[in-house]
Amino acid sequence: MSERTVLLIEDETNLRVTLTEVLESHGYRVCSVATGEEGVEAASKKPFDIVVSDLRLPGISGIDVIRAVKSISSYTEGIVITGYATVETAVEAMRVGAFTYLQKPFTQEELCITLEKAFEHQSLKTENAFLKTEMSKGRRVESIVGLSPEIHRVREIIARIADSDSTVLLLGESGTGKELAAKALHYGSARSARPFVPINCAAIPEDLLESELFGYEKGAFTGAGATKIGRFEAANEGTVFLDEIGDMSPALQVKILRVLQEKEFERVGGRRSIKVDVRIIAATNQDLERAVDEKRFRGDLYYRLNVIPLRLPSLRERREDIQVLLRHFMDKVAGRKKKSLRGLSPEAVRLLEAYDWPGNVRELENLVERLVVLKEPDTLITPKDLPDRIRKRAREQHRSEEYIATMPEGIDFNAAVDNYERDLILDAMAKVKGVKKKAAEYLGINRTTLIEKMKRKGLLGPNEEHEETVRS
Ligand SMILES: Nc1ncnc2c1ncn2[C@@H]1O[C@H](COP(=O)(O)OP(=O)(O)OP(=O)(O)O)[C@@H](O)[C@H]1O
Ligand SMILES: [Mg+2]
Repeated sequence: MSERTVLLIEDETNLRVTLTEVLESHGYRVCSVATGEEGVEAASKKPFDIVVSDLRLPGISGIDVIRAVKSISSYTEGIVITGYATVETAVEAMRVGAFTYLQKPFTQEELCITLEKAFEHQSLKTENAFLKTEMSKGRRVESIVGLSPEIHRVREIIARIADSDSTVLLLGESGTGKELAAKALHYGSARSARPFVPINCAAIPEDLLESELFGYEKGAFTGAGATKIGRFEAANEGTVFLDEIGDMSPALQVKILRVLQEKEFERVGGRRSIKVDVRIIAATNQDLERAVDEKRFRGDLYYRLNVIPLRLPSLRERREDIQVLLRHFMDKVAGRKKKSLRGLSPEAVRLLEAYDWPGNVRELENLVERLVVLKEPDTLITPKDLPDRIRKRAREQHRSEEYIATMPEGIDFNAAVDNYERDLILDAMAKVKGVKKKAAEYLGINRTTLIEKMKRKGLLGPNEEHEETVRS
């Protein structure tokens, strides 16, 4: 076990010397000072495990010391020493975060037992936080679904860098999972029990910037009825997620740069500077280097944020994940809506895998949600359930791929004609919004011929098929 550290603050010299000796003889490493000011300074240089402070001190009081020390590190446990007359104040000290108090006079043994208890309490807290982290670790990195080598790599990097305090810059198109990755980083770190605070840099109105980010003091402006802390302060000991940084206004860029550089700020209307300990994760779907070249984004801010860049691949770069994600979201939505579908027909999967997914995983997730809501329970999703854009684009691409693939052995004439027919039908159906009579007219064939062909090609759902049989 590493050495246990105690900060002792006691203005009475004799008592200070005696207590220091007692504690050192019990194996603690002790730093002892005579005033609260010195104590807070020592604690801000390097946090102690335990702070033992007299309540009545010449300058700032023991209560202020405890409050300051706890805000520097909530991990530190505080014990206040109090005379008979000040027991009520000692209770007040516990309200601001002291673990307990010791009433004078006390024996060496009482002192040591109290310290032991504080240490025990501390290690339980740490263990708890550790277990929480472990649990969320499993949950969070696993929440990034996919079997492709690209997504494996993303999960691996996240696991490796989560627990470092380094700034991470997440890059990738819209809907590729940047926010999901940011959460995985936070919940995989020692900060997981502390807040994850997202700031959407594109969405904060200019006039609210400062008060949103840094808070304000009571009376700072009309309407500031009470002191309010800002996002950076709320995130203390946790993670700030700066989302959409490519869309930051120049004013916001300046403010953010300053906090990143100095790690402190003032509330609006306040003079005291507030120190925060936050880890920064930033995300954008823009080409930041270009933005820097074009002077839309500050170079100094870019270099501060671009410490560990991590790119989330688009869905079309890892088509093998499409089917896994479909399954994942079908299960998820089914659970939420208490309604499940039978799955997807092979043709539907083929179309979805060939589609380019400009909206990436979010587009896929929304599509699944729509399908589950609109389809009857326990039915199969077939190509006709899919939106036009998916059938169309996929078809164009598929046609040329298929043609090239069949070149060396020659072309299977029947299969090619069959495919071509199917495409014509799907196009026509899309054009007329699924009204078969109109599609038949458009194609210049009989309605019954069209239905026959659709039946053969599996383009009719089971219910439709039944309906059509009854009608004809
Ligand atoms: N690999 C994945 N596994 C499971 N779900 C994912 C995956 N990637 C993204 N998602 C889900 O897709 C949706 C969009 O992801 P997210 O919000 O993280 O994207 P983003 O990159 O932040 O997008 P934007 O740039 O538009 O803000 C979310 O519901 C998210 O949970
Ligand atoms: Mg996002």
